[in-house]
Amino acid sequence: MRNFSFLNPTKLIFGKNTIAELAKEVPQNARVLLTYGGGSIKKNGVYESTKKALGSRVVFEFGGIEPNPRYETCVKSLEIIKKEGIDFLLSVGGGSVLDGTKFIALAAKYKGKVYAKGSTVEYKSEDPWNFMCGREFPPTEALPLASVLTLPATGSESNANFVISRDSTQEKFGGWSPLVYPKFSILDPETTFTLPAKQTANGIVDTFVHTMEQYLTYPEYAPLQDRWAESILTTLIEQGPIVIEQPNNYEVRATLMWAATMALNGLISRGVPEDWATHGIGHELTAFYGIDHGQSLAVVMPGLWRNQFEKKKAKLAQYGHRVWGLLSHKRGQEGHDETAELAIEKTEEFFESLGVPTKLSGYGVNAAEAAEKISKRFESRGLTSEKGLGENACIGPKEIKEILESR
Ligand code: NZQ
Ligand code: ZN
Repeated sequence: MRNFSFLNPTKLIFGKNTIAELAKEVPQNARVLLTYGGGSIKKNGVYESTKKALGSRVVFEFGGIEPNPRYETCVKSLEIIKKEGIDFLLSVGGGSVLDGTKFIALAAKYKGKVYAKGSTVEYKSEDPWNFMCGREFPPTEALPLASVLTLPATGSESNANFVISRDSTQEKFGGWSPLVYPKFSILDPETTFTLPAKQTANGIVDTFVHTMEQYLTYPEYAPLQDRWAESILTTLIEQGPIVIEQPNNYEVRATLMWAATMALNGLISRGVPEDWATHGIGHELTAFYGIDHGQSLAVVMPGLWRNQFEKKKAKLAQYGHRVWGLLSHKRGQEGHDETAELAIEKTEEFFESLGVPTKLSGYGVNAAEAAEKISKRFESRGLTSEKGLGENACIGPKEIKEILESR
């Protein structure tokens, strides 16, 4: 096990009727900007409960943050923040609203032109897009933010990540800043009863793949972390089909919400290698073809596992054995390899059983075309098979092309 540190300053407030806790948690004198998406919170009572709990505080609103939040939309909020002297952001919705709010929190305080000494200056402006994906020195200030989460999937409610898309360039980049850990997040599982089945399934796949990105690499002596990851995977496999049948089952919804938070709050990755190549490639499928985030992962991960089979087969066999209870009749290495391959098939079947297609044809996308386009983009960014994605940094444009062609 490697050296590591662990920091997670977000306070989690979990359970029924917890939105009322906003009354205590939001500073009394705050000038709040309530951010939200396309209106789901106005249909399911979450908006009303939020407003009620905020009481007499000064509250402004900024709606319309779309799934895969757009830079072009988020920057529109800066005007009202400046004009009204907003000093607290409250995100009410799914991961997209929260990621957009994190970006806004940084953009609102961003002064630009903060370059590292000796660096090559490519983007000389105050445009907050500069701090996406390390194009510029990280921002140093942010507005405080908190969240009421209505969709378990991203773990954004207790991490410092945010993923933003830029329409004009068809780009989608992830950012990270310790300044945007939510001060607190309210997780009331009852708010998730109204999720469309597609979003529920996407959330299960996203949580599953987050766990895998921190588990399905190469063996490292970290039995505790492995079993944390395996417990999340087993839970999703068990609870996933139940929630599709029983969307108003509180206990099941609560379990899935807790699982999503635990999968990406920084805990299970401590001391182990991480992959994240599936996410890197998946983001491009979303940027070019608009495929939902969870769906993009369901397409890429099984293909990536087959492409990297030799390097990943030890962990794949462990996963197949411990999580799916698979045991081959064949002896020795041959048996392990068979368990590893079967584990990939089981994973595809699981995603499909939730209603999430695992092939590009399921989304009307031509695999050969996507493979060409996306591998070229990574090539233009300087990725190679020696300096590439994944825990071994060996997934370059060639491998990405092979992976997508196979889907
Ligand atoms: O916009 P509204 O009207 O609110 O509707 C949303 C949206 O259409 C709807 N929804 C949310 N809660 C609902 C609901 N509908 C009914 N009842 C409810 N309770 O669901 C739709 C999808 O919402 P969205 O927020 O886009 O989904 P999700 O939470 O899956 O977020 C996806 C985004 O998060 C990023 C993804 O790339 C994507 O942009 N990610 C963020 C991460 C992070 N911050 O750590 C990590 C992830 O890997 C991921 O990349
Ligand atoms: Zn994800």
